[in-house]
Amino acid sequence: MVKQELLEKYGLCRESIPGHVAIIMDGNGRWAKARHMPRTYGHKKGAERVKEIVRLSSDLGVGTLTLYAFSTENWKRPREEVGLLMGLIIEYLRKELRELWEENVRFYSIGDRDALPSEVRAVIEESEAETKENTGLNLVVAINYGGQDELVQAAKRLAEDFKAGKTELNQQAFEDRFYTAGLPAVDYVIRTSGELRMSNFLPYQAAYAELCFTQTLWPDFDAEQYVQALREYAGRNRRFGGI
Ligand code: IPE
Ligand code: IPE
Ligand code: MG
Repeated sequence: MVKQELLEKYGLCRESIPGHVAIIMDGNGRWAKARHMPRTYGHKKGAERVKEIVRLSSDLGVGTLTLYAFSTENWKRPREEVGLLMGLIIEYLRKELRELWEENVRFYSIGDRDALPSEVRAVIEESEAETKENTGLNLVVAINYGGQDELVQAAKRLAEDFKAGKTELNQQAFEDRFYTAGLPAVDYVIRTSGELRMSNFLPYQAAYAELCFTQTLWPDFDAEQYVQALREYAGRNRRFGGI
């Protein structure tokens, strides 16, 4: 449910809230390093931030929030770190499922599930099934997601279906075979930690998105910072090639 008083408190108006916000949650490692702590500590703190940003998105009327949690490239990290990240995904979903449900949030995961540990797959499937009737915020978590992989998989499926005479070849048929099928295009990409790149995140879906790069490291990205980013979006002039 959109909280009008919250929009007013933050000086935002309903019409200028992006329909689809996608966040590259970056900088956990550097946050921990600055505190002489192991990277894993940064990931734990980062995971704690997610809750606040999800709730605020729901309260402010963001339609879809996509969070980049683990990329197809992140397997290159040390085994221990990968294990901890998988563990945090399981913990987050187990702990938050009830609250997500109560807030009418619908959960989706995008990415290649087949390569995930079975426990992660199970909790993803359970969370999707449990929330599938919900009509509030779409919370999309990208886990083992890579945009290039998504496009190749979609192209393969489209080719197979075309060969079998099941589809025509057009833009819609291509998009229908993405992990994000049925979800709207991205309006706003926010990346924390000062890196100026997309890192294989939603290359097709964010083709016309507005971009926001902030120096803040993800564990420090709080409600105030998010609102600041949304204010910035409200001031953008989107033209989509028009005038
Ligand atoms: C983002 O923080 C979390 C994931 C990629 C899973 P990083 O772990 O990339 O943190 P930095 O970029 O090394 O600081
Ligand atoms: C992008 O961050 C992936 C996630 C936030 C999950 P990375 O830290 O992996 O990106 P690079 O390596 O700096 O491009
Ligand atoms: Mg990083």
